[in-house]
Amino acid sequence: MYVVIGATGHTGSVVAEKLLAKGEKVRVVGRDARRLEGLKQKGAEAFVADVTDGSAMARAFSGAEAAYVMVPPNISSPNVRSYQEHVNDVLARALQNNGVRHAVVLSSVGADKPDRTGPVLGLHTLEQLLEAIAGLNVLFLRAGYFMENILPQVSVIQSLGHMAGPIRSDLGLPMIATRDIGVFAAEALSRRDFQGKQRRELLGARDVTYAQVAKVVGAAIEKPDLSYRQVPAAQLKPALTQMGMSPNMADLLLEMSDALNSGHMRALEPRSQQNTTATTIETFVGEVFVPAYRAKAARA
Ligand SMILES: NC(=O)c1ccc[n+]([C@@H]2O[C@H](COP(=O)([O-])OP(=O)(O)OC[C@H]3O[C@@H](n4cnc5c(N)ncnc54)[C@H](OP(=O)(O)O)[C@@H]3O)[C@@H](O)[C@H]2O)c1
Repeated sequence: MYVVIGATGHTGSVVAEKLLAKGEKVRVVGRDARRLEGLKQKGAEAFVADVTDGSAMARAFSGAEAAYVMVPPNISSPNVRSYQEHVNDVLARALQNNGVRHAVVLSSVGADKPDRTGPVLGLHTLEQLLEAIAGLNVLFLRAGYFMENILPQVSVIQSLGHMAGPIRSDLGLPMIATRDIGVFAAEALSRRDFQGKQRRELLGARDVTYAQVAKVVGAAIEKPDLSYRQVPAAQLKPALTQMGMSPNMADLLLEMSDALNSGHMRALEPRSQQNTTATTIETFVGEVFVPAYRAKAARA
């Protein structure tokens, strides 16, 4: 039996769907029974619990051969790092005490660094905690920059007429669609051919700059002159808190942006067939960004 944490999220939902489609037994974990209902209809066992609850997680992993593990974001937490450390601890203990043999763990590019990576530091410490569990075979997926991170630009374009954010416009980022991570994780879980502690970077179809994203989005929404502008951190923080981030989360996000801009946080592997995934930015924009943009425009 497989346990999937964050089973209604971007990556976890794909992992759960793929495993269920293979006829596997899957226990899907989330906080909302209604959101888990669709997976339950497809044969999953729904387990409603909060990842911060140690005893619930101990039960969630009971009897599991393998698990998909991720740390759900908590952007409104007044202290994101302490939330992350608590969840890391809960998940590590649940895996260890249940003797789970295989885990595919969502990590990130930059998780190699012990400082100045904002929220990614929580994934560095998660990797270290799980490294120490004897008998647990782990595959850490160090994913690149999620293409879904560009979705808030729907509102930015509609209010400012251009794209804006803290990242340098000319910085090539390994942008990856989350569904590609889910597909990769489900395959790795069903094969379970990893041993000890292993790491894989997943870097999307190619490196893309925000200036290039603006061109792709502009062409798709019939605004061929759409541009991207880098905004200074101090100017951006109020907008981030207005979007629902705690001041602490906004600071961490801006720290991560600095780490990307300076190259402190970057992929370590040269691009190869093994770390390149299928979905291009053009496909993502066409299939995900444009419908979100049109839906928002229709509501306005
Ligand atoms: N953004 C990036 O560029 C990037 C890059 C690399 C790695 N990452 C990492 O990717 C992870 C996010 O992955 P994702 O996008 O797949 O997540 P996501 O779409 O935000 O999904 C979160 C999932 O966790 C569940 N959840 C939220 N809070 C929970 C809680 N307290 N207890 C139990 N379940 C909870 C949610 O369902 P309910 O709300 O219904 O409970 C949902 O199923 C983060 O760890 C992030 O650091 C991000």
